[in-house]
Amino acid sequence: MKKTKTIILAAGKGTRMHSDVPKVLHRICGRSLLDHVITANQDAGIKDVAVIVGYQADAVRTTLPETVTAFVQKEQLGTGHAVMQALPFLEGFDGNVLILMGDAPLVRPQTLQGLIEAHEKSGFAATVLTACFDDPTGYGRIVKNGEALEKIVEQKDATPEEQQITEINSGMYCFDAAALKKALAEIKPQNVQGEYYLTDSIEILQKAGEKVGSYPTADPGDIAAVNSNIQLAQTAKIMQRRINEKLMDSGVVMIDPERTYLSAQTTIGRDTVVYPGVITEGIVQIGANCVVGHDSRIVDSIIADGVDIQISTILNSDVDSGTHVGPYAYLRPDSHIGKNVKVGDFVEVKNSTMKDGAKASHLTYIGDAEVGKNVNLGCGTVFVNYDGTHKFRTVVGDNCFIGCNSNLVSPVTVADGAYVAAGSTITKDVPGEALAIARARQVNKEGYTKKMPQLKDKKKGTK
Ligand code: UD1
Ligand code: CA
Repeated sequence: MKKTKTIILAAGKGTRMHSDVPKVLHRICGRSLLDHVITANQDAGIKDVAVIVGYQADAVRTTLPETVTAFVQKEQLGTGHAVMQALPFLEGFDGNVLILMGDAPLVRPQTLQGLIEAHEKSGFAATVLTACFDDPTGYGRIVKNGEALEKIVEQKDATPEEQQITEINSGMYCFDAAALKKALAEIKPQNVQGEYYLTDSIEILQKAGEKVGSYPTADPGDIAAVNSNIQLAQTAKIMQRRINEKLMDSGVVMIDPERTYLSAQTTIGRDTVVYPGVITEGIVQIGANCVVGHDSRIVDSIIADGVDIQISTILNSDVDSGTHVGPYAYLRPDSHIGKNVKVGDFVEVKNSTMKDGAKASHLTYIGDAEVGKNVNLGCGTVFVNYDGTHKFRTVVGDNCFIGCNSNLVSPVTVADGAYVAAGSTITKDVPGEALAIARARQVNKEGYTKKMPQLKDKKKGTK
């Protein structure tokens, strides 16, 4: 096999999206459209990748991996003009050049490999990846003379007969580098849109006596391009189905895969059950034998085996095995939750560690804290970590018991084995194994209400 370089076109604005965000930065399944295309190349083993940027060039460029080279197309004068900007990338190169579209995120590594193989086997100077669509509207049409590929015509330039053709141009090609350079030099903006069409290179090469051909994809789902928000949702659905089916094939149980929204970088262990409405974003690792309950959202987090999560949000955190989270728990960034911990209903944890066996069963806020092993935080415990200007840390040692409705005013330490009486506001350190009571003593005033005139009248009235 020859060496292959890839050029991805991503300079367009995406007018039909009606958005301030460049089209190729719109996201499906947790990644930008462009990033999906780049990843397909990496997965196909193609290391030399260039991207043509233009509209909001800097915004697009900052999302690129370091290994990818960007070329700027200052004015968007068409797909052919876009490829011309990458000529320095092809200097002295005589291998294969894949041209891909930054707005066609569904292309898979095996499809790219298939295209390259077909191209090399046939000895074509250019091979076009094609598909047959029942509704080819909007795509360039593949015009053939018998079996031989003649040219590609754009929808806007097609005759009524050509518009009937259902074989369409995916916008993805494999060229011989030399043939591509030769064709680019001859493309002229003579068409309805006044653009330099890359598609014209096929007719140019064919007329110059070079062999050109098409490679129909096995899966037309690979080709769908995003030009509108409706198509964005449609491609997301296809991508999501692929992600979910791959996970189910590896032993994950999904109650309703049609309503399960997992990022492309989500891994899940076997026998884990995922309920409807679950969303993962970014890099998420979930272990085996977990339950991820309905409508939970997990972002950039690591969940170990046997964890039970119920309708909760977990951001940038890790949760160790056998732990229960929720319902309605909120783990905010940099929280480290140990083994067999309980983060119960309406519990919020932020930038804190809960060690093995710790429990906060209900209605608790744990911020900037370390909670020791087997600690029990009673209902309504609040770590008072903010004085209006600064944040402070609280440490609760192993085996402590914090009574209901207590405030731990940071910075403060409750040492190992200490108890805090319910309703206390703790402002001073508590020594190990001590009982801290920090609340007003109860006073009972005997017969008090009998003497209150308004209550006296009321009581009479009821007689
Ligand atoms: C293009 C093809 C069409 C094909 C379709 C597949 C041409 C002339 N037409 O049409 O045959 O069926 O893709 O989806 O090639 N871009 C640039 N610079 C430009 C223009 C476009 O970088 O000057 C980029 C866009 O960012 C986009 C891609 O090229 O990622 C395709 O551009 P778009 O305008 O969407 O082309 P289509 O009209 O869809
Ligand atoms: Ca397009």
